[in-house]
Amino acid sequence: MKRLEGKSTLITGSARGIGKAFAQAYIREGANVAIADINLERAQATAAELGSQAYAVEMDVTNQASIDDAIAAVVAKAGKLDILINNAALFDLAPITDITRDSYERLFSINVAGTLFTLQAAARQMIAQGHGGKIINMASQAGRRGEALVAVYCATKAAVISLTQSAGLNLIKHGINVNAIAPGVVDGEHWDGVDALFAKYENRPLGEKKRLVGEEVPFGRMATADDLAGMAIFLASPESEYIVAQTYNVDGGNWLS
Ligand SMILES: NC(=O)c1ccc[n+]([C@@H]2O[C@H](COP(=O)([O-])OP(=O)(O)OC[C@H]3O[C@@H](n4cnc5c(N)ncnc54)[C@H](O)[C@@H]3O)[C@@H](O)[C@H]2O)c1
Repeated sequence: MKRLEGKSTLITGSARGIGKAFAQAYIREGANVAIADINLERAQATAAELGSQAYAVEMDVTNQASIDDAIAAVVAKAGKLDILINNAALFDLAPITDITRDSYERLFSINVAGTLFTLQAAARQMIAQGHGGKIINMASQAGRRGEALVAVYCATKAAVISLTQSAGLNLIKHGINVNAIAPGVVDGEHWDGVDALFAKYENRPLGEKKRLVGEEVPFGRMATADDLAGMAIFLASPESEYIVAQTYNVDGGNWLS
């Protein structure tokens, strides 16, 4: 029995990386998935690759009209919205004395406001439908504690954990479960960018930081995006109905809480 049979799902930032792996896993479990991304061309290529249960939607989570249009596009296509994964995010890195207002505003606008207002629009739709729903926010181990060079991104992910708690408590009376996943270090294009930034600020050769963070994971290596899929399926399935406002670490043992 497929666990997400017929479920209409919207995943932000799913043209690549973790969001794409979630879309693939959800499709295997019977869901249909909107590949919603600011990069429409790549979203279309991903949807074509994933097959007939996937379709591309252009979406910029920093723009309210774009959020509303994306939810409307999902309802027009699938007749309903059952599951939202708030996955789109941006990373940046700089010592405190080099942080720019532009970087701060971009990260908070995508990672925090994008998460809150997409969650809000999805919750309004789910409440109107009247049969609950599942919302999963992508947090990070970065949200569990600060890091010397990663102040702004860490703060955005701490905010995601906090928003998950408040929204989870507020929306459970409508049968909407809001929970989050906190990954550790996940190999992919995102971490190639992170590695390049560490190379610049820590004066390292390219690839060294990535190798080191992988060696430090108690499990013995970085995660692949597929390592997170089991939790994403569980949090969208009826098995997690009694789980409310939680953030789960899926990080190979990096953080204990
Ligand atoms: N990769 C990791 O090591 C790691 C670790 C912890 C948490 N996370 C979190 O997991 C999530 C996915 O990470 P990833 O590694 O797949 O990232 P990624 O950078 O590979 O993918 C992010 C996607 O978001 C899209 N996007 C960017 N801005 C957008 C916007 N304004 N509106 C809509 N889409 C937008 C991008 O086009 C891209 O397809 C993020 O929330 C990230 O913070 C990742």
